[in-house]
Amino acid sequence: MNLNKEIPTKNPISLNKFVAMSGLCSRKKAEVLIKAGLITINHAPMTNPAYKILGKDTVRYKKQILKPESKIYILLNKPRGFVTTTADDFDRKTVFDLIDIKKKSELHSIGRLDIDTAGALILTNDGDLTQKLSHPKYKAKKTYHVTLKKPIDQTYLEKMKAGVKLEDGFIKPDRVFIVPKSERKVIGIQIHSGKKHIIKRIFMHIGYFIKKLNRPSFAGISTRTLGIGAWRHLTKREISLLSK
Ligand code: URA
Repeated sequence: MNLNKEIPTKNPISLNKFVAMSGLCSRKKAEVLIKAGLITINHAPMTNPAYKILGKDTVRYKKQILKPESKIYILLNKPRGFVTTTADDFDRKTVFDLIDIKKKSELHSIGRLDIDTAGALILTNDGDLTQKLSHPKYKAKKTYHVTLKKPIDQTYLEKMKAGVKLEDGFIKPDRVFIVPKSERKVIGIQIHSGKKHIIKRIFMHIGYFIKKLNRPSFAGISTRTLGIGAWRHLTKREISLLSK
């Protein structure tokens, strides 16, 4: 997982990968910056994203020297009452207040959770992975547990399974189920859409008020072993599963 701080000489990497590894931006964005002539090597613009970086090369964006940095991948079991942005205009607590690592200022969250939603949130400095998992094409599956004030009626459950038409388009969850022993008051819903307030909007549409919203898993990574507010680094296996 940890990438060398030095420019690798054995297996030289391409310029676009190098720029992304520096944390400046995603690989896709790097390609745009390179083609626009904004990345220089030893002070000369290099517009070929496939150029192989050599040990003696100094890569710059404007005046900033770029260096590959180690990637960080954290799974947080987000508590309610925290926002997922890095800074908040209203001075509310952010999820980054819960992390105590040196490089936390480099991190951002992959996707978002509302302030009153708890559960799985991945924090990273890997722009490529963020872009990939945020793209609907990749279909990162999120599982939510929705606690309702009253038991759900079978008719409405079926309506949700069939899909509902919201103001920004039709949405059909991948799976909808009643959580066992919940007396029909906790509904499991699997979805790959990352649209804002998507779960709340679906339940509002069918006329049910959400009492509590929790996300026990994101892209197959579960908070099962984490207490609320606790976090851990992802394992190598989890990182390679996400990156596939
Ligand atoms: N859908 C919501 O309504 N809220 C969240 O936090 C996540 C998904």
